Amino acid sequence: MVYPLPAVMVSCGASPEEYNILTIAWTGTICSNPPMCYISIRPGRHSYDIIKRTGEFVINLTTSELVRATDWCGVRSGRDYDKFKEMKLTPGKAEKVKAPIIVESPVNIECVVKEIKDLGVHHMFISEVVNIQASERFMDPNTGKFELAAANPIVYIHGGYYQTGKKLGKFGFSVEKKKK
Ligand SMILES: Cc1cc2nc3c(=O)[nH]c(=O)nc-3n(C[C@H](O)[C@H](O)[C@H](O)COP(=O)(O)O)c2cc1C
Repeated sequence: MVYPLPAVMVSCGASPEEYNILTIAWTGTICSNPPMCYISIRPGRHSYDIIKRTGEFVINLTTSELVRATDWCGVRSGRDYDKFKEMKLTPGKAEKVKAPIIVESPVNIECVVKEIKDLGVHHMFISEVVNIQASERFMDPNTGKFELAAANPIVYIHGGYYQTGKKLGKFGFSVEKKKK
C-alpha cells in the first residue's frame, strides 16, 4: 500500500527483433551517487529473461498521452506481440545501452544491472543509471529548466492511473521565510 507510484514503461532488448516493453510499478531511486535505481520483475515475464541476459534496460517515464500504451504494455506479453508496433511507439537510440528508448516518453533513464536479488515472486534488479535523455519539448525557453510537470506525468494509485494535479509547494517551502 505504498502509493502513489510511477507506472513506467521499461524497454529492453539488444536488437530490433527482440525489442520489448513492459510496464513496471515496482521501481524507484535507491541511491544518488552513484545514481542507482531498481525495478522488480516476476521471472515469468518475457522481459525478465531479456533483461537478465543483456543486463540493460531503459526506464521511460509515462504521461497522460501515454496512459493507454502504459496499461496495454502491462497486460500483453512480448511473446505474442511487437508492442512498439501495436502501440505505435518509436524505438530510439540510447546513448550508453543497447536497449531502445521510447521516443514518445519525456524522460528515458538508461540503466545497467549490477545485481539481481531473488526476493520471492519478484526479483529486484538493482541497477546503475548510466545516462538520461530528456525531451527538448519540455525545456522552458525562459528559465532553461526542464519542466517535467508540463508533460502531465501519470501516477499509479492502487490499481488506477491518475494525472498529477495542483502544485502544493516546492522543496523546502515549509521552512522558507515569508517575504515582507
Ligand atoms: C500498472 C502496472 C504495473 C505493473 N508492475 C509490474 C511490476 O512492477 N513488476 C512486474 O513483474 N510486472 C508488473 N506488471 C505486469 C507486467 O507489465 C505484465 O505482466 C507484462 O505483460 C509483461 O510483459 P512481457 O511478458 O512482455 O515482459 C505491471 C502491469 C501494470 C499494468
